[in-house]
Amino acid sequence: MTALSAEHRTQVGIVGAGPAGLLLAHLLHGHGIESVVLELRSREYVEQRVRAGVLEHGTVQLLSEAGVGERMRREGLVHHGIELRFDGRGHRIDFPALTGGRSITVYGQQEVVKDLIRARLDAGGALHFEVQDVSVHDLDSDRPAIRYSHDGADHELRCDVIAGCDGFHGVCRPSVPDGALETHEREYPFAWLGILAEVAPSTEELIYARHERGFALHSMRTPELSRFYLQCEPDDDVDNWPDERIWDELRIRLEREGWELNADGPIIEKGITPMRSYVVEPMQYGSLFLAGDAAHIVPPTGAKGLNLAVGDVKVLADALSRWYATGDRAGLDAYSDSCLRRVWRAEHFSWWMTSMLHRFPHDDEGFEERLQRAQLDYVCRSRAAATTLAENYVGFAWDDG
Ligand code: FAD
Ligand code: PHB
Repeated sequence: MTALSAEHRTQVGIVGAGPAGLLLAHLLHGHGIESVVLELRSREYVEQRVRAGVLEHGTVQLLSEAGVGERMRREGLVHHGIELRFDGRGHRIDFPALTGGRSITVYGQQEVVKDLIRARLDAGGALHFEVQDVSVHDLDSDRPAIRYSHDGADHELRCDVIAGCDGFHGVCRPSVPDGALETHEREYPFAWLGILAEVAPSTEELIYARHERGFALHSMRTPELSRFYLQCEPDDDVDNWPDERIWDELRIRLEREGWELNADGPIIEKGITPMRSYVVEPMQYGSLFLAGDAAHIVPPTGAKGLNLAVGDVKVLADALSRWYATGDRAGLDAYSDSCLRRVWRAEHFSWWMTSMLHRFPHDDEGFEERLQRAQLDYVCRSRAAATTLAENYVGFAWDDG
């Protein structure tokens, strides 16, 4: 038996406490706008969930300006380039030289999430973990509602608008009536096995490797913690990947003369991520605004997922601020179009990086392989091609996406 329903009110109801929901709440607070954040999982769970690691130049700037960048600036690793590795040789893409001084910062998504949760709690903002049975209602009215249960009681939260920041498997997007959203989707015939290992990174910058056995990526989190990814089968299971096999495969796929992989430590986390491109249009229905993975997914090869989520909520926070301050809805009405321009740029870049670096099954005549080699060769020889990679990787200015 649940207790009697309680009714609440807020300005913006936010479903999901991932990077999108938490940052939106923080930015709104900065504009004097009240919100309530509702999260399915526990605080421990969201703070420990290992996901993305690369922050674009603009994301770093935004987090700093919003007052949540202090630990990131202290502990994050600033990188000025990446290495493309193939056929046993490496080629460096120099970001500052190609982009007018821009760089990226390696700082785990769960660290961003921890910083945002701390800021939210310090500000005394509403953030409820382990809510259940979340549903959204009256989306085509100007008084939408979120119903949920928490600590054994049923609740209804009336809002001016709802932000659906509940990720790809959330409830917000599926609550939009059939036919109102258009879906664009592509699945890839492979997945990524992600590994976290307590070993010092064997490289100072990320290595993206193309190999006939499949793609490999050497990333990192701290000077003591390495993050790796290996292309695997789409229906693969982590049980098929004992530590020995992982180290062997990394050694083979990342091989380069004069370079050695440090494999001298325990693997502390393994997980498999499917690869997909996905966009819904528009990213809004009535009073519901979708942001982050709730609206779009990119394959992680371009390291764009988290950065796109940040871009969406920046646009949404600015639009809401203008609306509350002046009554002008123009920013809200333009929300979807403003985001989709940046989203489709990242969709293309992520698809391009994925296509250039992964082994495609059924490429019996080696057509894909030859295209990949031609593309890699072009990126290595042409400053224009290298600049295309670099400027997309470090990300565009917010008003230039
Ligand atoms: P999420 O981080 O998914 O947050 C959504 C939140 O909503 C979650 O906390 C979830 O628990 C909550 N939620 C879901 N349903 C409900 C509900 N009904 N009610 C309330 N709350 C709900 N990107 C990269 O760039 N590099 C990577 O290596 C990488 N690895 C990834 C690995 C995995 C397994 C996944 C799923 C994604 C990965 N991504 C990666 C993508 C990147 O992490 C996402 O783009 C980013 O998390 C998007 O943030 P978000 O806030 O939109 O969504
Ligand atoms: C990561 O460090 O998790 C990472 C880095 C680059 C990517 C994807 C993931 O392209």
